[in-house]
Amino acid sequence: MSTPDVALGVHHAPQGLSDRIALGFTKLLRFCADTFFAKRYGHRAIVLETVAAVPGMVGATLTHLRCLRRMEDDNGWIRTLMEEAENERMHLMTFIEVARPTLFERCIILGVQWVFYVGFFLLYLASARTAHRVVGYFEEEAVISYTHYLADIDAGRSANPPAPAIARHYWKLPADATLRDVVLVIRADEAHHRDVNHGFASELGGQPSRAVSPYPEHAAVLRPEA
Ligand SMILES: [Fe+2]
Ligand SMILES: [Fe+2]
Repeated sequence: MSTPDVALGVHHAPQGLSDRIALGFTKLLRFCADTFFAKRYGHRAIVLETVAAVPGMVGATLTHLRCLRRMEDDNGWIRTLMEEAENERMHLMTFIEVARPTLFERCIILGVQWVFYVGFFLLYLASARTAHRVVGYFEEEAVISYTHYLADIDAGRSANPPAPAIARHYWKLPADATLRDVVLVIRADEAHHRDVNHGFASELGGQPSRAVSPYPEHAAVLRPEA
């Protein structure tokens, strides 16, 4: 199985107040996640993927409503954002086969979903550009976290069981695929979300950004051959 072709270590240098707010908010949440989960990567992934699956659906909903109001084309944004939300939910469904959240973590998930959904919705209404930049920075951190997870698996500190069936089916992985293979394709997904959302934020801010191709075509580059 070939390794997904993914650019690691990509960072959007903040330009202006909107970007700095987005980066500061992301670093604050990163600190909270590092403090709470430390190296419990399976649990970390479950809780954070319940959060990661929210922005795509919020962005798709509000973009859909804006396009209806203005009677204008969405340029493929709505489908792209909905596919991001579904993709993040598949990350969650995969990790729930690997680790089980504790009762306390389930309570955290309930509380955080209310706060994050409402907060992100309001942020997107106030500044879609900042909201997409926040997601871009979140995804930069997700790539780093999954890189740490891979290092832990390679060092034997985290288990590397066979890939869950749901993951083999979704990413079309071979029958002998392991969790390591799954983390590799998930990291590639996060890198793709990073590039898409930074691209959207830059476009909304009138900044130059490299073109981000629609999801299915781009994903083909990032995913391994089955
Ligand atoms: Fe994810
Ligand atoms: Fe993501």
